[in-house]
Amino acid sequence: MVTLHLNDYDISIGEMGKPLQRLIAAGNYTKIAVLVDNNTYRHCFPYFLQNIDFEVVAIEIPAGELHKGLDTCRFIWSEMMRLGLDRHSLLINLGGGVIGDMGGFCAATYLRGIDFVQVPTTLLSQVDASVGGKLAIDFNGVKNSIGVFQNPVAVLVDPAFLRTLPLTEIRSGFAEVFKHALIADADQWRNLQQINDLMTVDWASYLAPSLAIKQRIVEEDPTEKGIRKALNFGHTIGHAVESYSIADWGFRISDSAPQSEIRNPKSEMSHGEAVALGIICEAWLSHKMLGLSASELNEIVAFVKRFYPHWPLAEEDFPAVFALLKKDKKNVGGRINFTLLPAIGEARIDQFCEVVVIEEALRFYMQ
Ligand SMILES: NC(=O)c1ccc[n+]([C@@H]2O[C@H](COP(=O)([O-])OP(=O)(O)OC[C@H]3O[C@@H](n4cnc5c(N)ncnc54)[C@H](O)[C@@H]3O)[C@@H](O)[C@H]2O)c1
Repeated sequence: MVTLHLNDYDISIGEMGKPLQRLIAAGNYTKIAVLVDNNTYRHCFPYFLQNIDFEVVAIEIPAGELHKGLDTCRFIWSEMMRLGLDRHSLLINLGGGVIGDMGGFCAATYLRGIDFVQVPTTLLSQVDASVGGKLAIDFNGVKNSIGVFQNPVAVLVDPAFLRTLPLTEIRSGFAEVFKHALIADADQWRNLQQINDLMTVDWASYLAPSLAIKQRIVEEDPTEKGIRKALNFGHTIGHAVESYSIADWGFRISDSAPQSEIRNPKSEMSHGEAVALGIICEAWLSHKMLGLSASELNEIVAFVKRFYPHWPLAEEDFPAVFALLKKDKKNVGGRINFTLLPAIGEARIDQFCEVVVIEEALRFYMQ
């Protein structure tokens, strides 16, 4: 068991049973509810129950981002009331980033806030979403637009949950794992070079260094005024291309660009695939703007291509992608804002690039 101590809570990495038992014993909670979706109810809840000896009630919701909204919150709050949760009750969020974000939001607002524990079950939520105190739901078509900053009482990261996770979800989280290394830890980047097959990785050894990077950054800048923006490496272009690829979700696009500019294109991309594309483009921008060496650029590109399929981006996609890039919430005064790398393991925030240079970066990916 590895424990990372944050200012007001701990992240435990290893079997979740013992730290959870200790926390429950110390908390003297009146009632304990576990929020699950239909997948984590099936794949994760049985293991969870095997590892505890206290009573819990489950609240089950449908899986997926489409359910990360107010209607589901209403259902969760209603269930919490129906089950008799009071101010001294605890909510345990057993699932991926959707469960963690929405369960955390519901707990932080129920009766003006009750304790909650994050038990993340996807690689993305284990290395990223469960740490940093950002809790949100999607509203009126805008992702994560209603929410609060509130820390859990603990985060329990148990790699055993990853055994049932499909490759697309592993890829999604893996993009965050190597992004953390690229922005802050050249040694961890070198360790990651040993990985060849994402489905046979012993994640236990990679989780702690990755989490430690996110922990360090969010503690230094909890509300994203400065260095926390480093975590956006790969995400400026990544988010734009991801939104474009899922344009038939309309709701995500509607606030970001006029519908007329969006031509629904090819296959939908997962978040991880989009971030991987974004990392290739933004590594090229780093080379062009900050002198990231050609050998490090090539190293990054070869690594990403080892794990992620090529997405058929074409010149005809550029207008829609730029319409989305121009609406990025990180932009300042209409200028498109990036985090770039002068070298592997170092990040520079607030780097502004002209449209023609960004077009070149997209063409670099297309080669
Ligand atoms: N709060 C933050 O700082 C932060 C950071 C990054 C992402 N996010 C949010 O996280 C969400 C994405 O998280 P995610 O990728 O974990 O998505 P998710 O919660 O939708 O999980 C992905 C899928 O995997 C299933 N699943 C979860 N655990 C499983 C397991 N162990 N075995 C089999 N299937 C399992 C889920 O049911 C779901 O179908 C987005 O809503 C995003 O906005 C938040």
